[in-house]
Amino acid sequence: MNALVISYSYTGNNEALANGVASLLRADRVRIEDAKRRSGWTVFLDMLMDRTPPTVRPACEAEGRDVVVFIGPVWMGMVASPLRACFERLRPTIGRYAFASVSGGADGPNPGLAAELERRLGKAPVAIADLHIAGLLPPEPRPRRKDTSAYRISGEEAGRLAEAVVAALRDAASRDATARA
Ligand SMILES: Cc1cc2nc3c(=O)[nH]c(=O)nc-3n(C[C@H](O)[C@H](O)[C@H](O)COP(=O)(O)O)c2cc1C
Repeated sequence: MNALVISYSYTGNNEALANGVASLLRADRVRIEDAKRRSGWTVFLDMLMDRTPPTVRPACEAEGRDVVVFIGPVWMGMVASPLRACFERLRPTIGRYAFASVSGGADGPNPGLAAELERRLGKAPVAIADLHIAGLLPPEPRPRRKDTSAYRISGEEAGRLAEAVVAALRDAASRDATARA
């Protein structure tokens, strides 16, 4: 699979996940970074005002790839805003793509991701892996936002979550192959 992993991470969890996915897929990496200092406040304003923040990004080119895997946090139910500039750039030419995230999940899944991705990229993702820190914690007492937001995943957890992402990608590829047959 000639895959490209394009990732953003604010506090490190999705960086660890992206490292695991890229290593399993032997994929090239593009890391997006904030061009300006980020805080909880700028996260809030970006999401509220639907802003595309300035980012430092190497060339966000996906030509010739079998699949592009975007990886980043979910903020306020939406894909983290620093991925937006790349979405805008790739929208005219993007082929098969997927989105994976390790987010908090204290309030359950993030049901708006598929619709948001389709709106921003002009086509539906082949797979979404909405993975949750809450699922890594003991179920009792029920994990709350303050527990999940302080949590930093271990290398071992990142490896397991990366395997789940790759399994979702392989399922999507075999569904495609069946549909084409
Ligand atoms: C302002 C803010 C809003 C968040 N909103 C959500 C959310 O809506 N759903 C969710 O599951 N997690 C949410 N999270 C949790 C992050 O997605 C989670 O901590 C993630 O692992 C951080 O990824 P990173 O370490 O790669 O930056 C939010 C975190 C912050 C800081």
